[in-house]
Amino acid sequence: MIETSLQGSVLEILIANPPVNALGAGVRKGLERALREAILDSAVKAIVVRGTGKFFSAGADISEFDNTIPDPQLPDIINLMETSPKPVVAAIHGLAFGGGLELALGAHYRIATPIAKLGLPEVALGILPGAGGTQRLPRIVGVEAALEMIVSGAPISAAKGAEIGLIDKLAENEDLAQQATAYARTLTAPRPTGAREVTADPAVFEQFATKNARKIDGLDAPKACIEAVRAAVILPLAQGLERELAFFHELVVGQQSEALRHVFFSERMAAKIDDLPKETTPRKIAKVGIIGAGTMGGGISMNFLSAGIPVTIVDMAQEALDRGIAVICRNYEATAAKGRLTTEQVGTAMTLLTSSLDFGELADCDLIIEAVYEDMDIKKRIFARLDEIAKPGAILASNTSYLSIDDIADVTSRPGDVVGLHFFSPANIMKLVEVVRGAKTAADVLATAMDLARRIGKQPVVSGVCYGFIGNRMLLPRIDGAIDMLVEGATPQQVDRISVDLGMPMGPLQMMDLAGLDLGWHRDVSRIESVRDALCAAGRWGQKTGCGIYDYDDKRRPLPSPAAQSIIDAFREKSGIVPRAISDEEITARTLYVMVNEGAKILEEGITQRASDIDVVWLNGYAWPRHTGGPMYWAEHLVGLEAVVQNLNAYSRSMGESFSLSPLLVRAATNRTSFEDARGKLGAGS
Ligand code: CAA
Repeated sequence: MIETSLQGSVLEILIANPPVNALGAGVRKGLERALREAILDSAVKAIVVRGTGKFFSAGADISEFDNTIPDPQLPDIINLMETSPKPVVAAIHGLAFGGGLELALGAHYRIATPIAKLGLPEVALGILPGAGGTQRLPRIVGVEAALEMIVSGAPISAAKGAEIGLIDKLAENEDLAQQATAYARTLTAPRPTGAREVTADPAVFEQFATKNARKIDGLDAPKACIEAVRAAVILPLAQGLERELAFFHELVVGQQSEALRHVFFSERMAAKIDDLPKETTPRKIAKVGIIGAGTMGGGISMNFLSAGIPVTIVDMAQEALDRGIAVICRNYEATAAKGRLTTEQVGTAMTLLTSSLDFGELADCDLIIEAVYEDMDIKKRIFARLDEIAKPGAILASNTSYLSIDDIADVTSRPGDVVGLHFFSPANIMKLVEVVRGAKTAADVLATAMDLARRIGKQPVVSGVCYGFIGNRMLLPRIDGAIDMLVEGATPQQVDRISVDLGMPMGPLQMMDLAGLDLGWHRDVSRIESVRDALCAAGRWGQKTGCGIYDYDDKRRPLPSPAAQSIIDAFREKSGIVPRAISDEEITARTLYVMVNEGAKILEEGITQRASDIDVVWLNGYAWPRHTGGPMYWAEHLVGLEAVVQNLNAYSRSMGESFSLSPLLVRAATNRTSFEDARGKLGAGS
């Protein structure tokens, strides 16, 4: 795991722990020994620490955090490095994250390649940099830059690192080995970071916390990060390090960090399909076709264009194409204005885009994604046509959010090539892609879809075929519950507050206003069968008409609406329903526990591979708060499945006859076991 090689008077210590050079116990042991030997060896005048493979290091081995971390400890190794009488250089390529960057901060000098990235992403795991990062980074770059990096967790480029003093030398190219040893040879004395002092206006910490209040509210780690950086200013290094470590130990056993670590490993697990033959080779995707230049088609196209993959977009009318391309262009310009892409990158992306009214133009595409509206007949017609024109081996995908991929595949002569790729709106931004596996979808088609999703920066999750797949199927009982409770006597604010208090950006009713209450509406103003019909008939379609369940101000903030309330009241009266007080417990059961119940059914039916995949869907597609781990983790670890079942039982009468408890959920609750264990006992999921 650690290799050394003497290059003249410079000892190179190489971290070799694929895939990401995590600093697990083996690496730490090797590193400690190599450093001690180098310090004692009179032939060694300087030391370079470098990583092999793709990265310098992705930091501590996160899987060690569930138990006592074995010795030697990373902070001790970094202290050893910092007090070395010989200059130590950290040579960074790829990325230095978390403990990896902290290791580099303990070195006396840092050289990095032009495309290297530097970051302290610990906050995303609900912890803080626990190997000196909060004490050394401010000493090098100052308090404000350090707070920004540590509390946001966002990485910076090597160039930015050089600008703020974090990187001493930018390598000329990615070939780092020789440049690093040559640099080390020029250094004559150590330069311990801990010997530096840092000062700051005491007000800066409060100002930073206030400015970032919306992002850090309710989260333990960012607050500890701010306090730890404050310690760097007011305490000597040794005491500051002690304070940082105390925060680390407190956070790492906390609920939030446990949930966030579950998220980290679940997201990576979700990208894997358990039953694919090992030898499955993904197909090559060099060109993508998109059918439909609407909001979804345009957003989906942008993902491929940004990843350098040419796209041909096809629609029925030139006007639709022109409008769609103009929207893509505007979205790119907005991204460039925010500094997330350069004008040159936008230009390159746009040159990869072609458009046509002729389906025949899709003949040479390796993947064709249909993104027209939800109508089975239209989709079937499109797939029958694709079957005629697509080249052999092309993957034919539908972006349907509810409909059966099997029914769509059946109109083609090649159902093995058909798969669902359900992107979420706005498709250029939302990370989630549900990869819908039809009964006949070929193994290499699935493997390609998973790979490609990662290549374009998405989080893939596999779903089997059912109405609404994983995410939207769970959404349905949540929405029904929210609407029904309005009619039964709850106010919209009361219903939505439960989800917002949990940490979601908005509640189910606000979400409906955002998506449009008119979605799926029959458009007959005289036919009022639901409160939704009544609101739509009154022109209250949601944010798009400026009003829905809520009124909206000019900043699109929801306001209680007397007009909507009187429509709800009138509908209630007409339906002969007597309003009653609705408790927070009932709202929780009927908007949140019902989702968990549906999730358990999805798991039981084998629609999803694992309970944690359901969490990944809701975290990445519906903004479920990450620090609670996702709905299934939340129910299992933070609420308790017995409480979930008890409450669902308590309100089952109000939910009507269509409600039924998942046997898997009941069994897990009764046996006090996890969903996965209960599933094993049921023998379901296959
Ligand atoms: N510890 C343990 N395993 C890790 C890891 C880590 N720090 N980082 C990545 N891995 C594992 C992943 O789980 C994955 O394993 P599987 O193949 O078994 O699923 C494998 O390495 C590859 O990871 P990715 O699929 O994520 O690879 P990628 O190339 O897409 O991304 C990465 C690479 C950007 C480094 C990403 O893995 C990442 O962000 N890792 C976490 C970085 C991080 O949070 N570091 C801080 C750790 S905490 C710390 O350092 C505390 C401290 O103060 C000492």
